[in-house]
Amino acid sequence: MKKFLNMGVIGCSGMAEGHMTAIEKNPNAKLIAVCDIDLEKAKKSAEKFKIEHVFQDYRDLLAMEEIDGVVIVTPDQVHREQAIAALQAGKHVLCEKPLALCREDMEAIVQAAKESDKKFMVGQICRYTPGFKMAKELVERGEIGELTFVESEYAHDYTGIIRPGSWRADPLRNGVVGGGCHAVDLLRWIAGDPIRITAYANHKSFPELEYDDTTVAVMQFPNNVIGKVFVSISCKRQYTMRTVLYGTKGTIIVDNTTPHMTVFKNELTDTVVDGVKAINAPVLLPVKLANHNTIGEFNEFCEIVLEDKPVVTTAVEGAKTVAACMAIVESANELKTVEPDYNF
Ligand SMILES: NC(=O)c1ccc[n+]([C@@H]2O[C@H](COP(=O)([O-])OP(=O)(O)OC[C@H]3O[C@@H](n4cnc5c(N)ncnc54)[C@H](O)[C@@H]3O)[C@@H](O)[C@H]2O)c1
Repeated sequence: MKKFLNMGVIGCSGMAEGHMTAIEKNPNAKLIAVCDIDLEKAKKSAEKFKIEHVFQDYRDLLAMEEIDGVVIVTPDQVHREQAIAALQAGKHVLCEKPLALCREDMEAIVQAAKESDKKFMVGQICRYTPGFKMAKELVERGEIGELTFVESEYAHDYTGIIRPGSWRADPLRNGVVGGGCHAVDLLRWIAGDPIRITAYANHKSFPELEYDDTTVAVMQFPNNVIGKVFVSISCKRQYTMRTVLYGTKGTIIVDNTTPHMTVFKNELTDTVVDGVKAINAPVLLPVKLANHNTIGEFNEFCEIVLEDKPVVTTAVEGAKTVAACMAIVESANELKTVEPDYNF
């Protein structure tokens, strides 16, 4: 079995350089080629990371025999074409989220991944954020009892990020599918696939865009858990994914930008107020900050490939997250309750 991965990265943005750094730091992988339709950007990354092979056409990168795997960091609209081509060229693939923007594209990628003997992983990066990982572990250990209510938000002011006519302005790449998929994936990971969704949205901040900028979705999860996702691409605050998990025995408040999580649980506290033991006093647990943890994500990808382990965030998993997001948008647009279709 192979013990080392030669990698290529397709797309050379700031996010892509996060992936390049992750490959550079992994002792079992080497970045040997980069590609961008904008050759100057590819050359800049190549110079920064001392990479020999630079391409403008991703097909030339895929034609390199010595490349074992690729990271796809291009606009969501081209994931289908590049992901399928990479699998068919015999490469392992780590593809950025969201998997794709429509059902047809997701089904095509899922099919190609099923037909290939190579690994295909979707970069649901919030699953590698230390605070969220720890929260999931606490829930699984039963530390807060049975889940009752879960909520997460994607609050990210896109001012200056979206230009009309750019790929991010595509109505299919709305705020819920494009960025809100992080919060939706987080809740799916912790509480399972939402069964029914009712959402409301408004559109006040970016009249030049064809999609809403603020959305709230109420969801019914399995095991009688209820939940809520809030997505705002126009909120005037720091980018944060505040997440609260309520259980029968405790509550966890965690986000991706605070170096601690807050846990409320009687057994965890010795706080005494006026001679009476405080109920539900907060306990702060330190958390490492690593918001876009490309290193954790790539390390797992590398391990999965080199040790032939099963992929966790498979194409189907990525598709289910987008399906839930699409159901939120449909519910808000048509003012009806929607049951997402997870049949991939
Ligand atoms: N995980 C996260 O938190 C996170 C954050 C940002 C972006 N993303 C995802 O990463 C992907 C890229 O987003 P970005 O912010 O880097 O976008 P970007 O627009 O900043 O960069 C995309 C790059 O791809 C290049 N490109 C476009 N079409 C190409 C093609 N056909 N072949 C090769 N290169 C091509 C562009 O020239 C550009 O350099 C998207 O899927 C996005 O949703 C994920």
